[in-house]
Amino acid sequence: MLVVRSAVIQFVLMVLLYSFHCVEGVFERLVCTISENCDCDFKPNVRGLEWDLYKNLYGQHLAQDIVSEEVANFLQAENPDRPLVLSFHGASGTGKTLVSSMIGRHLYGTAMGSPYIHQFVPTLHFPMPEHAKQYQVALKRWLKGNLTACARSIFIFDEMEKMPPGVIDIVAPFLGPSHSVFGTNYRKAIYIFISTIGEEVINRLALETRQAGREREEIRLVELEDAISQAVYNNKRSGFFHSRIIQEKLLTSFVPFLPLGRRHVERCAYRELCQRGECQRKDVVEAVGGAVVYVPEQGQHFSSTGCKSVPAKINLFL
Ligand SMILES: Nc1ncnc2c1ncn2[C@@H]1O[C@H](COP(=O)(O)OP(=O)(O)OP(=O)(O)O)[C@@H](O)[C@H]1O
Ligand SMILES: [Mg+2]
Repeated sequence: MLVVRSAVIQFVLMVLLYSFHCVEGVFERLVCTISENCDCDFKPNVRGLEWDLYKNLYGQHLAQDIVSEEVANFLQAENPDRPLVLSFHGASGTGKTLVSSMIGRHLYGTAMGSPYIHQFVPTLHFPMPEHAKQYQVALKRWLKGNLTACARSIFIFDEMEKMPPGVIDIVAPFLGPSHSVFGTNYRKAIYIFISTIGEEVINRLALETRQAGREREEIRLVELEDAISQAVYNNKRSGFFHSRIIQEKLLTSFVPFLPLGRRHVERCAYRELCQRGECQRKDVVEAVGGAVVYVPEQGQHFSSTGCKSVPAKINLFL
């Protein structure tokens, strides 16, 4: 009898505990929606982000400046009038994913582990172009759900060049300045789009700059933004092909990533070696720098794989 009674008490306690959790969750979401002030686990450290970009991102003065400035401006406003929307462009291995994880780490204290940082990879989440309509419905429902749970959500859309055309336009109403959409505050969110589209125009300017004897640090965003915008809008392979997001200028800023030269590759190799406790192996740094393929054939100024192949090359020489 005693055993039965204690089992019943245990069961009632469990039900109470479970209901408390549910009510707490519902209550929290309700407060977030009404007060438009749900900050989830948001612990922004803008100085930390600036320092990380300055110290650990090589050869990308535009990305360093734009990301630091736009994130700081955005977080300064208690109630921003539109979300922060950044679009990263550049060749493979130049640091696009690295910067997106730095943003996650310095805003949520964890790289991609936070439940409020959402990453989409088209080949994984939107693999079939013929299902574009279903993807749109799912994406809209999913964005609404996540913004209701946390207004400070971060959405990262990687490999935009593989996104079926049209799908991304469902995000457009979330990016504008209107007061609220679907009854949810969506102006505190951060969206990051990543693609290699536009690499030709970026690489061409980097090459011309070098050939003209100018420093790469002299390259300004205004020299690139129109060309990148046209490239992503007109390229059929781009997820932004004929997209409203580009037409209506819903992006806060394009962020160009320049092609990396041998000195950047060697810095990547040095850092990787230090992480393996082999800082003193300058011979390996040099061997890796010499083993990477550089383009164009004439001049061989830029690594064709950025810093991406560095760990594999180190394994060869260490
Ligand atoms: N500019 C850079 N400064 C420091 N490290 C870099 C830089 N670019 C790339 N790396 C390093 O090289 C590796 C690949 O970089 P990352 O994944 O950011 O490239 P990506 O631009 O996203 O390429 P992809 O378009 O192929 O996804 C990472 O380990 C990263 O730390
Ligand atoms: Mg990447």
